[in-house]
Amino acid sequence: MNREELCRAALKAMRTAYAPYSDYYVGAALECADGTVYTGCNIENASYTPTICAERVAIFKAVSDGKRDFKRIAVCGGKEGVVADIFPPCGVCRQVMSEFCTSAFEILMIRSEDPLQFETVTLVDLLPFRFTPEHLEQI
Ligand code: THU
Repeated sequence: MNREELCRAALKAMRTAYAPYSDYYVGAALECADGTVYTGCNIENASYTPTICAERVAIFKAVSDGKRDFKRIAVCGGKEGVVADIFPPCGVCRQVMSEFCTSAFEILMIRSEDPLQFETVTLVDLLPFRFTPEHLEQI
């Protein structure tokens, strides 16, 4: 799947967001090294804190399916699903990416749906000086 197709998959996943409290819909599409794609949407909860972000849904779906080698993720979000600006993943999701991904892992942040526009950054851009599993091995 090319970058544009991955962005389209994230935009499609955004439509399934369960976000009755924020009305902010988020979609993600994660491409594994083997070419398979896992999508995710944000899922909110009346108790608020169990809410999970779209990126982590996509990553956890992939990991629970035995995948741990990831190439890139496309993300988008907007009030009631209208994409009005780029969507920078939250800090918790960046840390979860850090668990499985190299510094070169790409994050495609969608700026507009029609015409499709997105910014490409890498994990090291979003999370410099990141804490990784390797740090635990030094203890
Ligand atoms: N959200 C995500 O899905 N991903 C992020 O990286 C940040 C925020 C969701 C959580 C919540 O349902 C809504 O956006 C508003 O914070």
